[in-house]
Amino acid sequence: MTRFVVVHGFTRRVGASTLAANLALVLARSGLRVALVDTHRQRDSIGPALGVRAQTRAFIDACRLPGAPELLDDRSADFRLPAGALVVLPGGHDAPRPHADPTVSADEITALLGAVTAASSADFVVLDGEAGLHLETMALLAVADVLVEVIEPEPAGHQGSAVTLDVAERLGVPRRRIVMNRAPEAPVPDVDRVVLESAFRVPLLGALPEAPELDPPGEGAFVLGHPAHPWSAALYAVASALLDDEMTARGVVGP
Ligand SMILES: Nc1ncnc2c1ncn2[C@@H]1O[C@H](COP(=O)(O)OP(=O)(O)OP(=O)(O)O)[C@@H](O)[C@H]1O
Ligand SMILES: [Mg+2]
Repeated sequence: MTRFVVVHGFTRRVGASTLAANLALVLARSGLRVALVDTHRQRDSIGPALGVRAQTRAFIDACRLPGAPELLDDRSADFRLPAGALVVLPGGHDAPRPHADPTVSADEITALLGAVTAASSADFVVLDGEAGLHLETMALLAVADVLVEVIEPEPAGHQGSAVTLDVAERLGVPRRRIVMNRAPEAPVPDVDRVVLESAFRVPLLGALPEAPELDPPGEGAFVLGHPAHPWSAALYAVASALLDDEMTARGVVGP
């Protein structure tokens, strides 16, 4: 059964794409079949985050013609995956388009995700969402099994994240989680965890520390380039918590 994991941050540049790409890679390296879909319309985030330039059509074009061949770019060989697979669908064009694209419809997104699932047989489809709360965000949430909402320590964007989590609940997303990026302390001390979880009314999946080496991106997947870095250790912990959630949801292990 394919699970859809939407990674989203309300505020721009909170680190949602970095998390989505590295999480997809870690899941694939654990032996799972993973499809990473970058839903940014005017930018590709997979290239900078993983150091690969996908050769397939961009998300926005794939939405218009989801059934076309070569929907997904198989990057499994790049990362020498022992068992799993990582296929990617890149984000939009770097150059602004002469005519702004109208909003992609929910039906188009749903059809695309159906085609991605059929083409990849993925265990997990990781969806790298754009900042803000748009009609496209709702379309992603409508199919999501898990929302991973990325927040920063500063409360400026917290209200937007709280609204996103609320919308996700109303749309019936079964599992809603927060991850703190650029956390002053990772793991988050218990006292702060309690405050965050009661403020957002969802569990904290984990916290990623500030990692100045992440900026500027572009030298390939951070978890592979810096396996011993605290950010990478925290990322593995987030992936593990996500898989624990999945096992609990399937009734394999108790809560
Ligand atoms: N924990 C961190 N420490 C330091 N830099 C980080 C951290 N997480 C992400 N970054 C850097 O911050 C920048 C923004 O990250 P990213 O593109 O993942 O954010 P985003 O939320 O997807 O942004 P956008 O709104 O542009 O889609 C990147 O240069 C990335 O390398
Ligand atoms: Mg992004």
